[in-house]
Amino acid sequence: MVYSATTENMSRINLGPQSLIYPEPVLMVAAYDEDGTPDIMNAAWGGVSGANQITMCLSPGHKTVKNILIHKAFTVSFATADTVVESDYVGIVSANDVPDKFARAGFTATKSETVDAPLVDQYPVALECQLKSYDEDTHIMIGDIKNVAVAEGYLTEAGTIDVAKLQPIAYDGNNHNYNVLGPVVGKAFSDGAKLK
Ligand SMILES: Cc1cc2nc3c(=O)[nH]c(=O)nc-3n(C[C@H](O)[C@H](O)[C@H](O)COP(=O)(O)O)c2cc1C
Repeated sequence: MVYSATTENMSRINLGPQSLIYPEPVLMVAAYDEDGTPDIMNAAWGGVSGANQITMCLSPGHKTVKNILIHKAFTVSFATADTVVESDYVGIVSANDVPDKFARAGFTATKSETVDAPLVDQYPVALECQLKSYDEDTHIMIGDIKNVAVAEGYLTEAGTIDVAKLQPIAYDGNNHNYNVLGPVVGKAFSDGAKLK
């Protein structure tokens, strides 16, 4: 049973300021280090910020960020229901402390054909990005999306990404949970026309 607040029963409780959006993505950001070893981190603070452009808030101390600044490139994969443990692991362990973190997570990489960054074989969909800018003060990183690489078998007959097969997860920052994206409940740019 889905709880439904109406104008009659809605009274609000103030939680104060929180870094909260629903849904938050689970972005898996990967780059090569100075020796060509791949690293990967988990990032919830990010999203599309323009045509073929992604913006994320990434701390400069992370090994992944240092790597991106060397190679000026990275990939962003979408974490999936069957990679929850690995995706969380790389978000709580740093390659600054565990240099073989990527391999320990069980990940393998294939070099992107588009940018100087690793595609992580265990994630079916990835954005291949060129670094556009990084601000050490605000921690804002902007990347140009040069290509979207999709593993065979993850496209619909129409050639679009099959979300039901991909099973991307979202981060619930209030409860510290990962939720899988649910069923289709509507058609964008279409359902609202009923109220026109
Ligand atoms: C759910 C989750 C979300 C995270 N979101 C971010 C984020 O948006 N920005 C960030 O800088 N770090 C974020 N982190 C922390 C990094 O993933 C973590 O510090 C990681 O160990 C860095 O690895 P590295 O030093 O090998 O690059 C997040 C971690 C988790 C578990």
